[in-house]
Amino acid sequence: MTTTQDAVAAAERCTPEYRRNPHPVYAQLRESAPVCPMRPPHGNETYLITRYEDARNALSDPRLSKDMYGAMDAYRRIFGDSSVALDDNMLNSDAPKHTRLRKLVNTAFTPRRVEALRPRIQEIVETLLDDCPTREPLDLLPAFAFPVPIAVICELLGVPPQERSKMQQLSTTVAQTGFSAESKRAQQKAEEDLHAYFTELIARKRREPADDMLSALTAVRDTDGGLSENELVSTAFLLMFAGHKTTAYLIGNAVYHFLARPAQLRAVQEKPELIGPAVEELVRYEGSVESATFRYATEDVEYSGTRIPKGALVQIALTSANRDPEKFERPDDFDVRRPGNTQNAHLGFGHGSHYCLGAPLARLETQLALSTLFGRFPRLTLADPASGPQWMAVPFPAFRGLAELPVV
Ligand code: HEM
Repeated sequence: MTTTQDAVAAAERCTPEYRRNPHPVYAQLRESAPVCPMRPPHGNETYLITRYEDARNALSDPRLSKDMYGAMDAYRRIFGDSSVALDDNMLNSDAPKHTRLRKLVNTAFTPRRVEALRPRIQEIVETLLDDCPTREPLDLLPAFAFPVPIAVICELLGVPPQERSKMQQLSTTVAQTGFSAESKRAQQKAEEDLHAYFTELIARKRREPADDMLSALTAVRDTDGGLSENELVSTAFLLMFAGHKTTAYLIGNAVYHFLARPAQLRAVQEKPELIGPAVEELVRYEGSVESATFRYATEDVEYSGTRIPKGALVQIALTSANRDPEKFERPDDFDVRRPGNTQNAHLGFGHGSHYCLGAPLARLETQLALSTLFGRFPRLTLADPASGPQWMAVPFPAFRGLAELPVV
C-alpha cells in the first residue's frame, strides 16, 4: 500500500517504479491529496490535479491560463530559454488569440475532412507494413508506430518525403523532457533548426503553393493577415509536434495492451466495428498524454478544498482522471465493450476550448494502424510476454509511451 507521502515523493521524483506503473500512485493521490503541491525537478511550485471532476473543470477554467508567455519565468525554467519562439501558437495562448489561431486551422480538421484522408492513410499504413524489416524480434515502435503519424502529418502539412526523417528526429529532440544543461542545449538547438526549417519551407510554399495545409495557411497569412509570420511558423511546428509523438505512443500502447490481452483482441477481430470504441478505451486506459497539460493560475483558485496560489503551475494528470472510480466503473480493466465509453467521457484528448484539434485524425490513424496490423499479422505476439512492458524512463511524466515494443 502506497502512503500519501510515498505517492507525492514518487510523483515529484518520477521514480522508476512510478514510471513502470503510475496508477497506484495516482489512486493514492486521488484519495488523500487530490490537488497535490509538488516541487518537481524544474523547481516551480506545481499543483498536480488527479480527480476526474477537478481535471475536467480545470481544463476549461478561464482563471487557469495557457498563455505561457504570461508565466515566462516559470516556463523558461521548465523548457529552457530558446532564442526562437516556437510556442507562439494556439496551445500556448488564451482567448482572443487562441480563438483566432484555432479558427484558422480548424477547417482542416473537421471530421469530414479527416475522413477524406482515409484512403491515403490506409495506403501509408500498408506501405509501411510492406517495408517492415523481417528480422525477429522486431521493435514495432521505430518500424511502424512512429513512421505512421509522421508520414500522415508531413503529408497533410506538405513536408516533402525526403525531409521527413529530419523532421522526425528534430521533433523527437524537442519533445524530450530532460532537465540537464546538455539536454536543454540539444532541445534549443533542435528548436532553432525547426524554426529555420519551417521558415524556409513556408518561403517555398509562397513560391510554389501546393494542395497542402501549409500552403493554405501561408495564403491566409498573405491575403488577410490573419496571423503573423511567427505564428505561422509556430503553428506548423505545433501541428508537427502535437500530431506525431502523441499518436505514435498511443499506437504503441495499443498494440502492447491488445497483445497482452488476446481475448480483447479477438473481440475486435470478430466484430471489426468495435475498433472505434476500442480506440476510445485505449485513450482512456493508457492514453499517451499523461500530464502535458500545463496551466498557470492567474489568481488564487480552489479545487477539492486546496488553494492554488496565483502564479503557481497547474498540471492536470489525464492518466489519473481517466481511471477515477468516481467516474468509471472497474477503471483498471481494459474492456473494449465498456458501455458508455463515448468520445466525450474520457479526458485523454483534453476538454474545453483547447480540446485536441487533431483528435479525429488521431482516432482514424490509430484505428487504421491497428486493424491493418492485426489483419495482416494475425499471429503477432509479444517477443517476451513474461518480462512486461518497457515504459520510457523520463524525468517528468508529460507523455506515457513505451521505450520499445519487440514482437514476433
Ligand atoms: C491539444 C492529446 C493527436 C493537434 C491536445 C490536448 C490533448 C491532446 C490532451 C489538450 C492540451 C491541453 O489542454 O493542455 C492528443 C492525443 C493525441 C493527439 C492523446 C493522439 C493520440 C493530435 C494530432 C494533432 C493534434 C494528430 C494534429 C495533427 C493538437 C493541437 C492542440 C492539441 C493543435 C492544441 C489545441 C488548442 O490549444 O486549442 N491534444 N493529441 N493532436 N492537439 Fe492533440
